[in-house]
Amino acid sequence: MNIYQLLQQKFKQALVAIGAPDDAAAPLSRSTRPEFGEYQFNGAMALAKSLRQKPRDIAEKIVAAVELDGIADKLEIAGPGFINVHLAPQWLATQLAEASQSPRLGVEQDEQQTVVVDYSSPNLAKEMHVGHLRTTIIGDAVVKALEFMGHKVIRQNHMGDWGTQFGMLITHLNDKLTQSGVAESALSDLEDFYREAKVRFDNEEGFADRARDNVVRLQSGDPQCISLWKTFVDVSIAHSEEVYEKLNVSLTRKDIKGESAYNADLANVISELRAQNIAVESQGAQAVFIQELADKEGNPAVYIVQKSGGGYLYATTDLAAMRYRSFTLNADRNLILTDARQALHFKQTEIVGRKAGFIKPEQTYEHCPFGMMLGNDGKPFKTRTGGTVKLVELLDEAVERSAALIAKRESDLSVELRSEIARKVGIGAVKYADLSKNRTTDYMFNWDSMLSFEGNTAPYLQYAYTRVQSIFRKAGVDRDSLQADINIGTEQEKLLAVKLLQYVEAIKQVTVEATPHVLCAYIYELASLFMSFYEACPILKDGVEESTKNSRLMLAAMTARTLQSGLDLLGIETMENM
Ligand code: ARG
Repeated sequence: MNIYQLLQQKFKQALVAIGAPDDAAAPLSRSTRPEFGEYQFNGAMALAKSLRQKPRDIAEKIVAAVELDGIADKLEIAGPGFINVHLAPQWLATQLAEASQSPRLGVEQDEQQTVVVDYSSPNLAKEMHVGHLRTTIIGDAVVKALEFMGHKVIRQNHMGDWGTQFGMLITHLNDKLTQSGVAESALSDLEDFYREAKVRFDNEEGFADRARDNVVRLQSGDPQCISLWKTFVDVSIAHSEEVYEKLNVSLTRKDIKGESAYNADLANVISELRAQNIAVESQGAQAVFIQELADKEGNPAVYIVQKSGGGYLYATTDLAAMRYRSFTLNADRNLILTDARQALHFKQTEIVGRKAGFIKPEQTYEHCPFGMMLGNDGKPFKTRTGGTVKLVELLDEAVERSAALIAKRESDLSVELRSEIARKVGIGAVKYADLSKNRTTDYMFNWDSMLSFEGNTAPYLQYAYTRVQSIFRKAGVDRDSLQADINIGTEQEKLLAVKLLQYVEAIKQVTVEATPHVLCAYIYELASLFMSFYEACPILKDGVEESTKNSRLMLAAMTARTLQSGLDLLGIETMENM
């Protein structure tokens, strides 16, 4: 049990002991300032109301009843009835010693759930652009945290690999292949390819008609069209894989379940919705009128599931995907990461899907929206000429820029090592800049701030990690096999110890809310606390007693291991030197 759970349990017992109902709220929070202790219990106020007593009197009763044997060395009543908990250094030391023995740093796994996470999901008609950066790296951090907590995660890369635009694309591909023959070279630049196809579609006599014919043939399974489509999809997937590899994300081919995978089921989705009278005909199309989302005048929201020509939509596929994830994959939780502009779509999809029974009441459907990535001008991130920024190019630029910075630092490392470091720092900087922001807001993409060695950035944290590691090199001590008693004597040691033991709280929050920035903030605070600890509490200096030195090395070892583990969950690589 982690500190939070333990304290909450103890306070719950105290509430019951003083006559509170079994389900009385036991609100516990982390204190915001060390003088208020580490945790604050706020259950007295609510209880005072229901028992019609003074909150401070209740607080006093709670303090008298709570059995924090050894856990806390001081309980203080503050304000109207807050109870501040000051944890006991000796207890912290024991907890930390225990945590240090486990490869998981003492983090206990949660009860296992099956969690389906839909992320990255680029549209294959075009090259991956910066818009897909956020979903890919936020999603990957979330799945890693979920797995760390013991959940069964099923990644679903819901790639946009189907739709009418593929008629245009395969027609153009067909013509290019008859000219040159090699698909990889014809599709070496998907942006250019798409643009060429579009120009032909808009201007070239007869092309649009051929493209439309090919859509029909593709949908009816014509082998030649299917084969062209497969070629196109294959090459595009390879492009995405290149990005995934550069980004060090965990998605593989077997995680792909593109829109095309639901093709055969779309007609069933419509007939189910019709049979249940959820979808009705409207101007030749099939639509669901959603009363729950009616506008001010009371007009229901209209959710089209089939176009008047018979074509299916993004929505139809998402309903099929919902049913597959709920009934075939047996998801306890469904997470979908896309930008916030799709929020309404997923809200509507959930309402319709729940009505139709495509998802069971106990299964969740959680759209996790994120804001846009903005340029320095505060407008959506674009190239200087106003085009979309290709992800591959952005990542290459990150590595180049970081290499230039690394080159400026004095160092005796080899050229190879330095280029490896530049890669980890550059990619880490881009990822961390994104992960560290609350995902729901827009954020400004800024090279200088993300590559800075100061502040809440990847380079700062990677550097902090190398600093802790260097202590072990200097001491000639093996970090992972070090065994020594931990003694918490100073304020800095205590703050660091508490923070280390709170690692699990940060990860848990990430898994519940799909918010990696919570883990980033945690790691940053941990690194900063370590720096102040290291300044105040010498480790290798002359005159430091052996037992003190070893105890502090234990704290340093736990810090290094926690930083490494946390950065790893975020998909940020660490290194020994910088
Ligand atoms: N392909 C879509 C896009 O690029 C994202 C798909 C998200 N997942 C889903 N089930 N709709 O915007």
